Amino acid sequence: MGEILGLGVTHHPGFLGQDENLAELLRRTLKSDRVPAHLRDSKNWPEPMQQEWGSDEGLASAASHRAHLMADFAKVRDRLDAFKPDFVVIWGDDQYEQFREDCVPPFNVFIFDKYECQPYLQSSSINPGKSNIWGDPIEKVFKFQGHMAGAGYLVQNLIESDFDMAYSYKVRDGSPLPHSFLNTIQYLDYDRRGFNHPIVPFHVNCYGSTVIRSRGSLGHLFGGVENRFDPISPTPRRCFQIGQATARILRDSPWRVAIIASSSWSHAFLTEKNNWIYPDVEADLRCFEDLKAGRYTKFRDMNLKDIEEAGQQEVLNWVCLAGAMHELDSKPEFIDFVGSWIFNSSKVMATFAPVS
Ligand SMILES: [Fe+2]
Repeated sequence: MGEILGLGVTHHPGFLGQDENLAELLRRTLKSDRVPAHLRDSKNWPEPMQQEWGSDEGLASAASHRAHLMADFAKVRDRLDAFKPDFVVIWGDDQYEQFREDCVPPFNVFIFDKYECQPYLQSSSINPGKSNIWGDPIEKVFKFQGHMAGAGYLVQNLIESDFDMAYSYKVRDGSPLPHSFLNTIQYLDYDRRGFNHPIVPFHVNCYGSTVIRSRGSLGHLFGGVENRFDPISPTPRRCFQIGQATARILRDSPWRVAIIASSSWSHAFLTEKNNWIYPDVEADLRCFEDLKAGRYTKFRDMNLKDIEEAGQQEVLNWVCLAGAMHELDSKPEFIDFVGSWIFNSSKVMATFAPVS
């Protein structure tokens, strides 16, 4: 019998760079013609947003936001290491990185033994032209272990459980694994102690109706997008079910497995009702209270229309985790809400009680 440890983290790209660039997404958004002109003046922002921006354009807030989250990452990493997993399944989204016009699967598992990439050179999500916080050379090669047997077993058993799974043995030429997976490992290894746990990246098509239309990012803010929307994400109900099935399958496996939901929650650049400049903090806090209290079925019962209106597309990764924790009857051991009005998104960090 296996043993399962649930974890939840953010993969916000801003922490790869310096503090002065942490509000980069806000600065880019404010250049859009779709943002009302009066909102280019910070005096017209909501009060908590002005406070976080302060008199230094958010520089002091960036330092404390980073310090808070990286302290949480260290806690999650210690929990992961103490658990001694055989492999780590990561639920993460793809933002027009691996999956483009030729194919967008609702879910996809990457199956590999070893994987190497040069993310600073290959990924536009990683700001290749800017320095990174570790001072890594731009051509640095990152090497990851996979787990062929575990990944193959998971896909096989999901298909036998009536989930029509897609899988990949290789990545798209010229494009690394999505930053949802790479950044998760970067931040779990923020102190550069090394990360040798084998990984099984499990993609969820969180961006759904705008993944091609907005290029999984700010495309809708800078012209040229068609009025047509793409077909939707998998429903919250389906994400919850696949999380439940994943937990059952891995609990019955011979392995010790950590399962991680990787994403921030409401994203400013997806929240039209806030003119794309700040996230839906209230919606996130309601979800956070549900998660904290173990009211997991609330995530199953979320509505995709409400999710999109709240800019919470990436929460679908956490709906998978909520399904898994519901199935295992595991409650949070550590959980933290790290809100922000200017750094694009609310972040939630969590560890759950291991279950065998
Ligand atoms: Fe993402």
